[in-house]
Amino acid sequence: MQFAFIPVKLQAGVFDRETPTPFKVPIDGSLTRGQLGSGTSGEVFSIVAFPSEFRYFEQPPKGFAIKRIAETDEVDREIRVLTQLNKIPPNNRQAIALAPIYTGFRRGTVTYLVGALADMDLDRFMKENPNPSSMNIQRKLILLQLRGLAQALNICHTKLDGYSIYNHDLKPENILVFKDPAKKQTTLKITDWGSADAKPFNHSGGGASPRSQCGVNPPYTAPKCRHDAPTSRRHDIWSLGCIFAEILIWYTKVWSALEKFRVDREAENDEDWCMNPGSVLVGTVRQALANLETAGWHPQVSLIKWMLSFQEASRPTANQVASHAALR
Ligand SMILES: Nc1ncnc2c1ncn2[C@@H]1O[C@H](COP(=O)(O)OP(=O)(O)OP(=O)(O)O)[C@@H](O)[C@H]1O
Ligand SMILES: [Mg+2]
Repeated sequence: MQFAFIPVKLQAGVFDRETPTPFKVPIDGSLTRGQLGSGTSGEVFSIVAFPSEFRYFEQPPKGFAIKRIAETDEVDREIRVLTQLNKIPPNNRQAIALAPIYTGFRRGTVTYLVGALADMDLDRFMKENPNPSSMNIQRKLILLQLRGLAQALNICHTKLDGYSIYNHDLKPENILVFKDPAKKQTTLKITDWGSADAKPFNHSGGGASPRSQCGVNPPYTAPKCRHDAPTSRRHDIWSLGCIFAEILIWYTKVWSALEKFRVDREAENDEDWCMNPGSVLVGTVRQALANLETAGWHPQVSLIKWMLSFQEASRPTANQVASHAALR
């Protein structure tokens, strides 16, 4: 039974092959090592892999995750995005914060994507490590992770062979945590391209995308996204600003403080981090950012406020975020 999940063969960067029949695929979680998570479009399982599959990898992942997507309407777009992303050379250090998704296959109407197994997502990581001060994580390591996420986003937004990819669903559940005990490193990586798109690059901010393609889960989506207007890659910058703020709230305090922040913010506005309609951040967010400034994060808060500019054109680019002195 442990062989039930092996795709025909792992061929990095190929996403659209039909699997030959008869071919066994993970129809339900009982056949896998366990379900890792689920979201609006898919279920993700940990899978067993033949050692022979590792020949494709210079540095094999510690395991594989397979995402099963039953809905086929939007999956072709996700595959198009992943095909573009896989053009990034594996040794591109700036792309380290992109969770690898190697290959995929389709059986009937169900699509399977195979990627590197992470330890968990960022939301669970913060919850399971409620007291970060006891973990002795250095401040500069936190900044390194924030910078890594911005660098990876910059590659997607601007450095892809004439294309611009935006994720449009950045949130803590879509950031994966990869621990490397040997190197004593923990790296945050962006995943889930189910709301993403790839458009020809344009200097003004990327191709427009209709509201339906914005992430479906408030509250990390940018305000403009909710007003049926086309959005651009600066949408991701807003979401990343929210994530940066939440990471710093967790890091400087405890998980329960972040939970309280979320509850209070939601009580003010259950959809956005800003007043609705309006160009002002909700009071809970303003207070939390003020608290972070007092706690010694003044430059970082200035950057976050810039990222949370109501007007898209006023937000920094991913490159400006990645190269900002506040993240050094
Ligand atoms: N490679 C992986 N390793 C470990 N866990 C993973 C991996 N990929 C996804 N997960 C877990 O599964 C969850 C759902 O995955 P993903 O976000 O890709 O699915 P989705 O259905 O597109 O979600 P969404 O609701 O955001 O659209 C993630 O939030 C994470 O907890
Ligand atoms: Mg997701």
